Amino acid sequence: MRIYSVGSLNIDYFYSVPHFVRAGETLPSAKLDILPGGKGLNQAVALIRAGADVVPCGLVGNDGEMLLDVLKSVGAKTDRVIKKDMSSGHAIIQVDPAGQNGIIVFHGANFAYDEAYFRKVLADAEPGDAVLLQNEINDVGLCMTVAKEKGMRVIFNPSPFDNSIFELPLEKVDLFLCNEIEGAAMTGKTAPDDILTVLCENYPNADALLTLGGAGAVYRDKTGVFRHGVFKVDVVDTTGAGDTFTGFFLAALNGGSAPADALRTASAASAIVVSRIGAALSIPTAEEVKEFLA
Ligand code: RIB
Repeated sequence: MRIYSVGSLNIDYFYSVPHFVRAGETLPSAKLDILPGGKGLNQAVALIRAGADVVPCGLVGNDGEMLLDVLKSVGAKTDRVIKKDMSSGHAIIQVDPAGQNGIIVFHGANFAYDEAYFRKVLADAEPGDAVLLQNEINDVGLCMTVAKEKGMRVIFNPSPFDNSIFELPLEKVDLFLCNEIEGAAMTGKTAPDDILTVLCENYPNADALLTLGGAGAVYRDKTGVFRHGVFKVDVVDTTGAGDTFTGFFLAALNGGSAPADALRTASAASAIVVSRIGAALSIPTAEEVKEFLA
């Protein structure tokens, strides 16, 4: 199964700060790192590093060469990532001493999608292939519809969450990938098992993965419920942890791993990424993850 990753590519500006800036405050930053990111790019890189068959799709602006370079550096084709005559998306990311982040996203080229683009990049998809989407591009619902017309599986990460998500054709989703905040917003529940129960009741065709930060992750499919805790590491920056989990988890499931093993591999990959600053460039290779687990 090929996974078509249709999502955002951002230039991430990481500001190291003593605390998140407060209303009316001017806060000096000790350090600025300008690095490639965006949920779509991070997830595509994680899938590729984990060994999945991935088709990266997306839109960048005139300043997007560094984003294309990341895909080239991991051996991906970039012919479906189109340059628009505008700015790339970017993110302003505050990182505090505990490694927690606060993010502002400017959409830029990530909001220049149209139906013709979705039809073109998914043209060679076959029934059973999957499209992986997040909520950081425009017309996500349209892409779901085009993918379903082609008999594809729809994998949806409702991140960042906003209420427009409820207007999407969510009945087309085969697999939800949420963190606890997105899961709570989707279901009105707070306990992880309740979130998964309501999500799978509301969307009976779907399986669901819920990541729980320091409390690990839970996955529910038609065969059961599977859990895994986190591997303890020194946290430098949590940006991209969820995206890395997504990529390694999907790649492992896709490669035939049992859900419990896929959770373990993805937890290890996430533990490595949070011990480094940055998103796309911090994602470990499959070998690094194997060494970590050994
Ligand atoms: O999920 C992490 C990503 O969110 C960052 O790379 C940033 O670009 C924002 O999209």
